[in-house]
Amino acid sequence: MTVLAIETSCDDTCAALVDRDGTIRANVVASQHEHDRFGGVVPEIAARHHLQAIDAVIEHALREADCSLDDVELVAATRGPGLIGALLVGLSAAKGIAAARQLPFAAVDHIAGHVAANFLQAAGGPFEPPFICLVASGGHTLVAQVDARGSSRVLGTTLDDAAGEAFDKGARLLGLGYPGGAALEALAADGDPLAFAFPGSAAARHGRSRRSALDGSLDFSFAGLKTALLYKLRDLGEDERAQRAPDLAASYQAAIVDSLLDRCERALAAGAGGRLAVGGGVAANGALRRRLGELGVEVHLPPRELCTDNAAMIAAAALCQAPLPYPDYLDIDAYPSGGRP
Ligand code: KG4
Ligand code: ZN
Repeated sequence: MTVLAIETSCDDTCAALVDRDGTIRANVVASQHEHDRFGGVVPEIAARHHLQAIDAVIEHALREADCSLDDVELVAATRGPGLIGALLVGLSAAKGIAAARQLPFAAVDHIAGHVAANFLQAAGGPFEPPFICLVASGGHTLVAQVDARGSSRVLGTTLDDAAGEAFDKGARLLGLGYPGGAALEALAADGDPLAFAFPGSAAARHGRSRRSALDGSLDFSFAGLKTALLYKLRDLGEDERAQRAPDLAASYQAAIVDSLLDRCERALAAGAGGRLAVGGGVAANGALRRRLGELGVEVHLPPRELCTDNAAMIAAAALCQAPLPYPDYLDIDAYPSGGRP
């Protein structure tokens, strides 16, 4: 049984072929770099590029897997959340392929995909629930209790920016371009994470006497962090700004990582047998991965390319849900960020 999965929720055009046991036969990701000069993803441009790339990306995946559409038994696509125009390209292409062959179809939630990346063989063998899962990406940040494949409950989520968005906004303030997570991590490598106590960091929490609205909650907030960096940069002189850029990056990164770790630790203390899995682009961050490894619990870290957006994770999630038979899926619609199916 082979699944063909398509993912186009943001700015990567992705297609994958995955076997029922979680073996990846092909996982093609075509990243759009047209957005970099705008400092963020432009939805219209993303949709247009998905449309131009989708056929070639699917063909590339089939070739890489050494199979044809005749070998595909289930078709899947991301339904949401994401950019509506971008989602519609992948969802329509997938529905078209499924309908032409009267195949069953699975409409997949993008976040469920990030969780399901942990079920892929290439992610170090399937990591089976129950576990706590941290999903931290450019659009979403949450901790969930995963009770079984395809069954999870959100314990805490971000009240404002996503962790990846915080990385991207910090990177932009530091003049590192877009998307900035990996660039900020590289700059932070030579810096001191304790140089500045940004909000959310363990250092800031330690020195705080006032109770915060987030005490006791597993929710996240990153909006104050980027403002703190903005003010710090404004207070420093030009020379010092340049000289201390690595310290600023390291301290800013530490504040995000500390905040993510704090919620994971508290979610783990509440249950789930002390097991943790991760997903989302921010889970590619080396500092986060290192610190998670020091938690003293069983931590499953999929390889970086399965943490960032890809279609293999969508296939893995499709295998956790009941597919819709032809033609029941023809009127399925996409849902945008913040929308509900
Ligand atoms: O999961 P993803 O590929 O796409 C979304 O669903 O959003 O995540 C992209 C996000 C971006 O904000 C990017 O800056 C961040 O993940 N990211 C990183 C790293 N690599 C990607 N953030 C921190 N450190 C990294 N190494
Ligand atoms: Zn994602």
